[in-house]
Amino acid sequence: MEFIDVIKSRSSIRTYTDRDVEDDKINYILECARLAPSWVNKQCWRFIVIKDKKTIRIISKSTIINRWLRNVPCIIVACGDPKFSGTSNGIEYFTVDVAIAMEHLILAATDLGLGSCWIVGFNEKKVKETLGIPNRIRVVALTPLGYPSSKRRILARVTKIIIRSKKRKSLDKITHYDKW
Ligand SMILES: Cc1cc2nc3c(=O)[nH]c(=O)nc-3n(C[C@H](O)[C@H](O)[C@H](O)COP(=O)(O)O)c2cc1C
Repeated sequence: MEFIDVIKSRSSIRTYTDRDVEDDKINYILECARLAPSWVNKQCWRFIVIKDKKTIRIISKSTIINRWLRNVPCIIVACGDPKFSGTSNGIEYFTVDVAIAMEHLILAATDLGLGSCWIVGFNEKKVKETLGIPNRIRVVALTPLGYPSSKRRILARVTKIIIRSKKRKSLDKITHYDKW
């Protein structure tokens, strides 16, 4: 796909088929995440790939609004080790590092025809307990991964309508030239 087509075809997918995601595709998208830029090239990101159905169900229960995750074939959890990043102007950059890598991953998945969805609505403590994540590591986000289902569940449809997910601010509302 052309880069602009990858950008335009990405959208948050909340319904998936049962089809498993091939390991070579998972490796490819993780490779795209691995090549992301980061604070002093410290690469603070760590990923957990979950395919075990029982674990996926437990993770879905650590959310309130994202219970639909119980039906997905794969989840990738994106963590950051703050020890391998830094702070500038009061901003902790491990979240930025992980977000950049995560978006590489998500766009790579889109390019392969896989669906994904940024998720931060989860209970970090429960996710860490479930996956045995060490104390100092933070869970920044997670995404389901799988083949989008054409049968969109009612909840997924309503979510898209409520958040007007296709609507974006125009360039003139978000861009200033030479000064604010
Ligand atoms: C940081 C972040 C957190 C998000 N958390 C959730 C979430 O917990 N649950 C969910 O269903 N969507 C979540 N989303 C998806 C957004 O709702 C979605 O990206 C936005 O509405 C635009 O829609 P689109 O992704 O289909 O273009 C999140 C997106 C971002 C970037």
